[in-house]
Amino acid sequence: MSEFVQAIKQRRSIYALGKNPSVGQDSIVKKIEEVFTAVPSAFNSQSARLVVLFGKEHDQLWDIVMDTLRQIVPAGKFGPTEEKINGFKAAYGTIMFFDDTSVTDGFAANFPSFAANFKPWADQANGMLQFALWTALEDLGLGANLQHYNPLIDEKVAGVFNLPKTWRLIAEMTFGEKLADAGPKETIPAADRMRVLA
Ligand SMILES: Cc1cc2nc3c(=O)[nH]c(=O)nc-3n(C[C@H](O)[C@H](O)[C@H](O)COP(=O)(O)O)c2cc1C
Repeated sequence: MSEFVQAIKQRRSIYALGKNPSVGQDSIVKKIEEVFTAVPSAFNSQSARLVVLFGKEHDQLWDIVMDTLRQIVPAGKFGPTEEKINGFKAAYGTIMFFDDTSVTDGFAANFPSFAANFKPWADQANGMLQFALWTALEDLGLGANLQHYNPLIDEKVAGVFNLPKTWRLIAEMTFGEKLADAGPKETIPAADRMRVLA
């Protein structure tokens, strides 16, 4: 099996994450940069934006999530939510995925006949980026999982991390030292979900 397919098959949602990965911050950032620039986008618009958080910045994001959810979830039922969010905070870092709507809207204005397609294309390209980075992190020997606390946290995130108003938050990926493997996953056979016509 090629290393590419092997890496794809090994990527899983890993929730038991720790702060002592075997690769350093610099190697992680370098790998993210390498993959980020190689991932495609519609019209090569490159509207995706990333914010990579380590250390206290990472903790700060999960404090925002905790505070936000504490205001929504009834106090008596907050225990499981608190435990889950503490699990994300226990990880080594987080990648926040954004789309710069000023770029995407600019393409929509410049190509009116495709105008309605640019937002879905931006989301699709962002999904490709998320998958590529998720797999690259796995390839580095790390574990990662994908979260969506947006749009609840958008305003606070933009304020605390001083981000442009045009950046639309799409997803949050925590990563770190893999403390436990993922359990088995049920998969519908590919043959049941695809047709090969020849
Ligand atoms: C578009 C998308 C959104 C997802 N959102 C979440 C999420 O908000 N929280 C979460 O814990 N997992 C999320 N996941 C992870 C899926 O639940 C997970 O990938 C799926 O169950 C298959 O498991 P695996 O990642 O171990 O292969 C998401 C995955 C995708 C592709």
